Amino acid sequence: MNGEHILVLDEGTTSTRAIVYGADGRVLHVAQKELTQHYPAPGRVEHDAAEIWDKTLACAREVIGKVGGADRIAALGITNQRETVVAWDRQTGEPITRAIVWQDRRTAEMCATLRDGGHEAMLQERTGLVVDPYFSGTKMRWVLDNVPEARALGERLALGTLESWLVWKLTGGLHVTDASNASRTQLMALDGADWDDDLLGLFGVPRSALGRIVDTAGTVGTCDPELLGAPIPISGLAGDQQAATIGQHCLKAGQTKATFGTGAFILTNMGETLPRSSHRLLGTVLCQQGGRRTYALEGSIFVAGSLIKWLRDELGVIRTAAESETLARAVADNGGVLFLPALAGLGAPHWQPDAKGVVTGLTQGTSRAHIVRAAMESMAHQCHDLQAAFAADGAAWTSLRIDGGMSANDWMAQDLADVLALPVERPADIETTALGAAMLAGVGVGLHASLEDAVAMGSASKRFAPDMDGAVRSGRIAMWEAGLKRHIDGVG
Ligand code: G3P
Repeated sequence: MNGEHILVLDEGTTSTRAIVYGADGRVLHVAQKELTQHYPAPGRVEHDAAEIWDKTLACAREVIGKVGGADRIAALGITNQRETVVAWDRQTGEPITRAIVWQDRRTAEMCATLRDGGHEAMLQERTGLVVDPYFSGTKMRWVLDNVPEARALGERLALGTLESWLVWKLTGGLHVTDASNASRTQLMALDGADWDDDLLGLFGVPRSALGRIVDTAGTVGTCDPELLGAPIPISGLAGDQQAATIGQHCLKAGQTKATFGTGAFILTNMGETLPRSSHRLLGTVLCQQGGRRTYALEGSIFVAGSLIKWLRDELGVIRTAAESETLARAVADNGGVLFLPALAGLGAPHWQPDAKGVVTGLTQGTSRAHIVRAAMESMAHQCHDLQAAFAADGAAWTSLRIDGGMSANDWMAQDLADVLALPVERPADIETTALGAAMLAGVGVGLHASLEDAVAMGSASKRFAPDMDGAVRSGRIAMWEAGLKRHIDGVG
């Protein structure tokens, strides 16, 4: 094996990053580039897959240069925004249309037809997923129905999520997807090793367009040496939320993490038990090694960091993300303001793609601090809705490990502990998504014997203990629930 470092490509919704880790989990170098967000129509969100590739390659080259060349790199791990669909021509290796991003709601009508056709119970039973435009299956179908080139390409058409796209480009034509990403397409049964013929038929997606389903840890191919300077083995692939669960060391059944990125995603490790939810949560593949799977129960919140970005870039009530903490602390309470942040519909457990955001309780005495505070409070309330659903599904949380950019906000971390009435723990290195991908790649290439062995790659945690007056807490929860009932539940 060459080298002792691990290179991770972390392909998020708003940016792409390359990080080089030492074998002990220390971050040695990071390069990051923002991605252009395209909003061509209400409810539509697109990315340019060619831009993603160009920027990812540039970031990878930059960090490889900083560590003294590709010979220093033992393994490459990729982690990515999930569900987002890229369509490309196998012959030219070029995208045929813009990538349809996970937040995109354009297939809401297709989903309603699936529900009306009585398919929801079967889909949930087989794939662990509810019927919602969030997932890749209907997005792939949309491409086939609406991009003339997609049908015209026939067997030359390739469809995949972001890890598939990047592996294709890095290897010069290997088409694979890992089991954790495949479990978000609605085209694979949770316990199926391959694409499911019935599901392919239902969604009308040809098998020939899809990649081979592979392990999350294990070498799947090597990078073209012309691109990065050496044939680096690609040995870890995982959806970003699954990678963060591993990076948070939630390796035992029952352990739970929440990542506050563009959205907020809470996953509880369910071990080898197939997760079945009766409360509108998702069952998903956490990890696959040597064909063996572990699973997670997931609650997906669509708006978290994107709300702060919206407050800053569209509403202009904060100048920097950090100001959200200062303003939340500047007032004693929300002043009667309630912020229901359904800017991209509502995810779990409501699943209302057509829901819209609502701010209520405004008076002459409302300041921007009250609005920002109410927006910040909505994070804990969205998590509290999920806490109840997890408990009802028999997966009650005993503590919550948080990570992702927004988790740096101490006020929000404390508010979470208070509203959830649970200890909240935050590692010093909050970029656990990339760390998890490094752990998977390290195990995949044999640098570590197992994920448990790779746990040394981590940092100490800070703990936030619940400390809110009981009456204040119940008042907050009652206000949120009444607002949800009045403005959102029932829309759809
Ligand atoms: O399922 C969508 C998720 O993978 C996006 O993650 O980090 O961009 O919020 P993030």
